[in-house]
Amino acid sequence: MKTKFFLDTASLDDIKFWQQFNLVDGVTTNPKLLSIEKKDPYSHLKSICKIVKGPVSAQLTKTDLDEMYTQGIKLSLISKNIVVKVPLIENGVKVAKLLSKKKIKLNITLGFDPAQIIFFKDININYFSFIVGRVEDFGKSNINNIKELRRIIDKFKKKPKLLSASIRNSDHLIKAINNGSDIITVPPSTWDKILKNEYSISGQKDFLNSWSNLKKIYKKNKYD
Ligand code: E4P
Repeated sequence: MKTKFFLDTASLDDIKFWQQFNLVDGVTTNPKLLSIEKKDPYSHLKSICKIVKGPVSAQLTKTDLDEMYTQGIKLSLISKNIVVKVPLIENGVKVAKLLSKKKIKLNITLGFDPAQIIFFKDININYFSFIVGRVEDFGKSNINNIKELRRIIDKFKKKPKLLSASIRNSDHLIKAINNGSDIITVPPSTWDKILKNEYSISGQKDFLNSWSNLKKIYKKNKYD
């Protein structure tokens, strides 16, 4: 499959668990996810980078341009696979330009409108994170805008990867794949819901009940 899957988490346990299913081509963290872990964020990011082969996004938390730049450099030094996640605000665009000149890998986050990517047409960014689920909290939908974003990116000379994020259910996931995302970052809770589909579970229960009834009749069953 061409589409890659990142795990949207800062939990080492979740990373190890979903690695068993080959669903961790990379990891995206954010300040909220790191705060759940209640550990020093820099050393925790280092621990994440040690167990993940692919890129690990670490987000800027400063808002002043100089401080964002310094923090970007500091985050990039944690490990070779760190990607600095830059919020899509005015100083975010400015700092992306500066950090890209230092050849630091960048993931632009908080993209809510396909038109926002035009600010990065001449900046060397690696990923553009387009937010799907979070807009639905405001009664809007971004799922079909992924296609529009895909068309715009395909017109760029330097094409960043289209990374769909904030994936809350299987509908988001399916449409994110089919609308042209290069990468989809999925929280462990969404994978869990999809894996533990209620119909799969009740179907399995039904089959096993029938099997144990059959075993009551034919006690020595060669299929056991
Ligand atoms: C992506 O990289 C972010 O971590 C993600 O968009 C978070 O979205 P959420 O807070 O809506 O889950």
